[in-house]
Amino acid sequence: MKIVDATFLQSAQSIADSPDPNVAEVAFLGRSNVGKSSLLNTLTNRKGLAKSSSTPGKTQLINYFNIKFKTSNEEMPYLFARFVDLPGFGYAKVSKGLKKDWNRNLTNYLEQRPCLQIFVHLIDSRHPSLDIDKNVDEFLSSIKRGDQIIIHAFTKTDKLKQNDLAKLKREYPNGIFISNLKKKGMDSLQNAITEHLFG
Ligand code: GTP
Ligand code: MG
Repeated sequence: MKIVDATFLQSAQSIADSPDPNVAEVAFLGRSNVGKSSLLNTLTNRKGLAKSSSTPGKTQLINYFNIKFKTSNEEMPYLFARFVDLPGFGYAKVSKGLKKDWNRNLTNYLEQRPCLQIFVHLIDSRHPSLDIDKNVDEFLSSIKRGDQIIIHAFTKTDKLKQNDLAKLKREYPNGIFISNLKKKGMDSLQNAITEHLFG
């Protein structure tokens, strides 16, 4: 299965102003600057689709994208999903009030969205066991419904030495190891996503 089209649908501050939950969603979440927006662009092969930046805190809203997959089934040639780019965790340079709202809107989305099927938790491969990521994992495990899965995607693997990458892969046998820079791991990630959504 291949992504043949990806378009921006809308931004939302919270669930209240989000699109109708009538299409399966895949949420990309993780620390600020970990590479969420870049990953969306690489996966969909659309450079400027999601706004990425070297300044943390770039993505400040819930951003919805329509994704169209081409299947090998002539009777159902296309399947559809939404990818959701989320604001990063752990970004300090916003006011406390805004931060609280962000977190509430974000956790509401993660906990309450009925069509949310996959959490893609992005983790910087250079810092794989930070407390904030462990806390996020605990939270996700505590809210996960039976129809949902969590995928751990380790990002920026181009910054690791081969030895260190091999060690990380042994430590996290179920992880998916990606590099936007080198376009690595995209097939594995896409297969894991389509397998759960449509398999
Ligand atoms: P927020 O929206 O702030 O939460 O950040 P984000 O997680 O969306 O990160 P974004 O995609 O904006 O990328 C942050 C920075 O990391 C940018 O400077 C990217 O160019 C860089 N980056 C993203 N992916 C990779 C990668 O695979 N390798 C390397 N070396 N740099 C990357
Ligand atoms: Mg972003």
